[in-house]
Amino acid sequence: MPLHSMHTHTCGELRADNIGQSVVLTGWVRARRDFGGLIFIDLRDRTGLTQIFFDPDLCSSEVFAAAETVRPEWPILVAGEVRHRIEGQTNPHLATGEIELLCTRIEILNTSKTPPFQIEDHVELSEDMRLKYRYLDIRRPKMMANLKLRSDFTFAVRQALHSCGFMEVETPSLFKSTPEGARDFIVPSRLQPGCFYALPQSPQLLKQLLMVGGVERYYQVAKCFRDEDLRADRQPEFTQVDIEMSFVSQDDVLDALEEIFSAAFTAMGVTMELPLRRISYWDAMDTYGTDKPDTRIGMELHDVAGIFAESSFKLFASAAATEGQHVKAICVPAAGVWGRSKIDRLSEVAASFGAKGLAWIAFKEDGSVQSPIAKFLSENEIGALKAEMGATSGDLVLFAVGDRLETDEILGGMRSHLADVLAIPREGHDFLWVVGFPLVHWDEERGAYAAEHQPFTQPVEADIERLESDPLSVGSWTYDFVMDGYEAGGGGMRIHNAALQMRVLKLLGFTEERARTQFGFLLDALEYGAPPMGGFALGLDRVCMLLAGSDSIRDVMAFPKTTSGSDLMSDAPSAVSEEQLAEVALKVVR
Ligand code: AMO
Repeated sequence: MPLHSMHTHTCGELRADNIGQSVVLTGWVRARRDFGGLIFIDLRDRTGLTQIFFDPDLCSSEVFAAAETVRPEWPILVAGEVRHRIEGQTNPHLATGEIELLCTRIEILNTSKTPPFQIEDHVELSEDMRLKYRYLDIRRPKMMANLKLRSDFTFAVRQALHSCGFMEVETPSLFKSTPEGARDFIVPSRLQPGCFYALPQSPQLLKQLLMVGGVERYYQVAKCFRDEDLRADRQPEFTQVDIEMSFVSQDDVLDALEEIFSAAFTAMGVTMELPLRRISYWDAMDTYGTDKPDTRIGMELHDVAGIFAESSFKLFASAAATEGQHVKAICVPAAGVWGRSKIDRLSEVAASFGAKGLAWIAFKEDGSVQSPIAKFLSENEIGALKAEMGATSGDLVLFAVGDRLETDEILGGMRSHLADVLAIPREGHDFLWVVGFPLVHWDEERGAYAAEHQPFTQPVEADIERLESDPLSVGSWTYDFVMDGYEAGGGGMRIHNAALQMRVLKLLGFTEERARTQFGFLLDALEYGAPPMGGFALGLDRVCMLLAGSDSIRDVMAFPKTTSGSDLMSDAPSAVSEEQLAEVALKVVR
């Protein structure tokens, strides 16, 4: 397709095949080198670099004089003939490294101040600097590649969804609270002073209403807004590929999603073996100590209470004898050779995951055993432990004692900490489903039950009779898509019965009146022939981060915010004028 542009080609595309052609390029000056009366310019655009060559014998003196003035980051247009680089000057590391442009025309399109940092991938920069001058950061090849990757992946997902019969429907950003477990961002209304919109935490309720409306297969590349504490994988404003289907079972949804993911990942050169593994929530917790396991790093959790039932180490023996208490362990490869103080320091890390102490046994390479608790353990116990854990000489076994979730959390945390410390290699990508989360958990802080996924999730039918009597035992039709140890997406089947929805809202602490005020429109809609439905939302930023091999979603967002929620470039959030506040009937009280 013609480019309709000032240039005929991009800076990344010229090859030996183009030698002899007259071309026009535009881009930014990456560097200018003057060599004994000759000038070389590296010209950069979003696709790559081309070397531009100026020889005073082969171009006009005006062109040469203009080339002498250009500085880094000036945008220029150059025209001339593509030729082979002279002997010894080819660059095999550069896609355009065989050729150069012999320039006969130059137009300086603008000048540039000296940028605050060099626009190169290899330059170490503070993130604050990168965010303040994001428009320059984006010119760096790595950032440009990340944005391109994101665009390509989004396009591939859209294509896959369309070919499976999904239609994209946009939903409003100015709406009512859609609880997904975070605080809302609220927007004051000028036309109705004292009233507020909430920016959607996700299009959850609206997509359910689209199902009531008969859309049947919906998707949207949707902006979501959540006022929560930010981390490397969390932004206040992020993007979901939001999906909903009706007249489906959970298996139908998972099968459809796998087909869509597989097509989209294949388009990115990533193979995904189907069907994906499905691990139940409790199996994931018990085996990996987390509901978002990276199964490539090994170190699975083992319940070893049985080994220590008769032990003279009272902490283990009494846990083994107590209902609901566990003794669990992980085997850390090659960490048994560490010195004692290095191993002891792990207890500080374990404390950050809730451990009160950290028992350990190091299997030394000379066959001996080192451990602060060794004197309490019999040879039989140590032998049985070694066999259960599959430990070999040089390995370190770490223990956690407590209730199921406590021990899971401690060892799950240690497991991923140690995988990083030991730099355990993680080849390729690890995809799986974690399914069947509990419907609710007890929220200590609020002193109330809280939805494990969200308040609109369908409980497992056979468990509904225990909704009020034993809510923690109620299962739900839910699933998370886990990629490389990150929660890359989540979803579930929805309640499509108004009475059941009201029961669940009451379980979550809503009075009937509050439920109606907040969700009356949903409860009403469910009474007009709502079909069975279920869906999912893919965290687009997280998936792109993992595809780009980065560890921060900020690297795949054009204009992200800092962990304190600021945009360093524009200084948002910032104060607004008294007039603007008055218009929306607000006064700031400090
Ligand atoms: P959930 O809240 O699990 O589900 O969100 C879906 C996915 O969105 C991503 N995500 C985020 N990414 C970046 N920054 C954030 N602050 C952030 N919060 C979430 C995660 C997550 O898995 N309405 C439901 C989906 C459904 O049930 O259909 C929902 O929003 O990758």
